[in-house]
Amino acid sequence: MFIATIFTLLITSCNNTNTNKMEKSKGISKSSFGTADGKEVFLYTLINSKGSEITITNFGGIVTSWVSADKNNIKSSIVLGYDSLSGYLATHPYFGAIVGRYGNRIAKGKFSIDSVAYTLAINNGPNHLHGGLKGFDKLVWEPTVENDSVPSLMLSYLSKDGEEGYPGNLKVDVHYTLTDEDELKIEYNATTDKKTVINLTNHSYFNLTGDVSNNILDHVLQIDADHFTSVDSTLIPTGDITPVKGTPFDFTQPTKIGLRIDSVMGGYDHNFVLNKTDASLTKIATVSEEKSGRVLEVFTTEPGVQFYTGNFLDGKLKTSGGKSIGQHAALCLETQHFPDSPNEPSFPTTILLPGQKYHTVTVYKLSVIK
Ligand code: GLA
Repeated sequence: MFIATIFTLLITSCNNTNTNKMEKSKGISKSSFGTADGKEVFLYTLINSKGSEITITNFGGIVTSWVSADKNNIKSSIVLGYDSLSGYLATHPYFGAIVGRYGNRIAKGKFSIDSVAYTLAINNGPNHLHGGLKGFDKLVWEPTVENDSVPSLMLSYLSKDGEEGYPGNLKVDVHYTLTDEDELKIEYNATTDKKTVINLTNHSYFNLTGDVSNNILDHVLQIDADHFTSVDSTLIPTGDITPVKGTPFDFTQPTKIGLRIDSVMGGYDHNFVLNKTDASLTKIATVSEEKSGRVLEVFTTEPGVQFYTGNFLDGKLKTSGGKSIGQHAALCLETQHFPDSPNEPSFPTTILLPGQKYHTVTVYKLSVIK
């Protein structure tokens, strides 16, 4: 049921009754974030027992900040985001958003199911990208606070049959939880009433230094993938599953991102075929950054991950603090099924049938090495 749950949970309290100092404590608080599509939009702040803080808006399901302490106890956000809605209402490259119905590209915006052809918007060169003109990143989702003791927020949306050209009424809910272990757990559920395709992801841009003035080329990355999907010049898979060995795509051992990026035209923007062979929640990648001591581990039930090095960021967009967001200012690890799967029968299927339950989980776990 897609019912708006009206609530107010402000678990901001005086931690120390001996002082007048107000400290935020574990829970979820809600504040107004503006208006989109004629509806009020909110910002939810999830705080865990360590004092780490994640803010999420029900506009696009966007994770707008993730504030945590580095090894010197300095707090900053490790994801790119704005502190007001206007930045998100303007054009931006999916900062922190839920991406769907189909995260990544579908060649020429065309696919068929049971010989019925579907046509989607062309919004990326000759291809369809990230759900179309008004994808899940640009919608107002229905929010429900699920739990304030383990801060957890659910966002729901009913995507109507034919929306953005996709078949079937698709009911989606996305659950965000911030655990005391500094994990952001994102669970995606969906059902449809007509055979359709689906590939949901989150498009957070990480910079573990907490400062976009530093690029991510010194971040060290390891991905548990012996293969990647080779692409054509428009970033559509050729169908080949290519070994990473001996290529700049070999991140099987922890490697500085900048080490070989110049040999990859434009930078990394590729789907890695994870070594995991089932849909269990498995650790698939680790990113670390020496100066902050921060480490980000990624776990997923998905078979692939798009590693994107912010190649199209060009300094024109600025943070709320006025800093330019330049090329490689952040990296994305978008857990997913492979791009263009609806047109590649050999790839794991992205078809969802009526009666089936789409369920995927991704966990981003942050820690600090002192
Ligand atoms: C994904 C794509 C990139 C780019 C970004 C958004 O990561 O693979 O090519 O479109 O989204 O700018």
